[in-house]
Amino acid sequence: MKERSKKNKKKTQEIYGSLKEAYRKLEDSHIEMIFRLALLTEFRDPSTGTHLVRIADYSAIIAEGCGLSKEDVAIVRLASPMHDIGKIILSDAVLKKPGKFTPEEMKLMQKHPEVGAEIFKDAKSEIMKACGLIAFTHHEHFDGSGYPRGLKGEEIPLFGRIVALADCFDALTTKRSYKPAFSFDKAVSIIKEETGTHFDPAVVLSFLRNKEKIKKIWESNKDIEVFLENMGIIEDTFL
Ligand SMILES: [Fe+2]
Ligand SMILES: [Fe+2]
Repeated sequence: MKERSKKNKKKTQEIYGSLKEAYRKLEDSHIEMIFRLALLTEFRDPSTGTHLVRIADYSAIIAEGCGLSKEDVAIVRLASPMHDIGKIILSDAVLKKPGKFTPEEMKLMQKHPEVGAEIFKDAKSEIMKACGLIAFTHHEHFDGSGYPRGLKGEEIPLFGRIVALADCFDALTTKRSYKPAFSFDKAVSIIKEETGTHFDPAVVLSFLRNKEKIKKIWESNKDIEVFLENMGIIEDTFL
């Protein structure tokens, strides 16, 4: 009897182990698929590749500092690289234009949040829903002066407020066709200046509290950016 229950226990453990393994593989492929989808924008604009990885890291740190649950931090990490997926509809002439946009081009560029939201419309999984939410709201400003809907304050979903800051911080600290890469301190002071107008003060507080962690990521990526640029692998780009 004892022998049989021992065997059953072993069998149950084996089944549990293989189910766990199958679940892990499924989760891995889900995560990989999300990143590969986000890389579609990189395919059109190679300079965004490293940007996507940093956005994920910065967003996760800020989200954690905002007190989000472990699950939500993981969702923000996975969904944030998808923020600009809507740019997929832009022509190369607009997407890769060095310098300023004409008002017409600006109008086209500003459509990318809505296109991103459309791509994830009626999403079923939490991560895909978050991708749509972030794509739709990452250009909204806390004071209502952003686009596409001019949402204000907490009308903007927290995920969108977090990625807005991570995205802008990365744009400030990397070279663009219209500006050099600003120093870490200069980027921080611009963020402070725009607190309450562009950025949610609570999200900025989390950013500032975690400044050292963010600085470490910025530092470790800085050299890669310069290397890739020297190799001609990435070019100047814009937001
Ligand atoms: Fe964007
Ligand atoms: Fe971006």
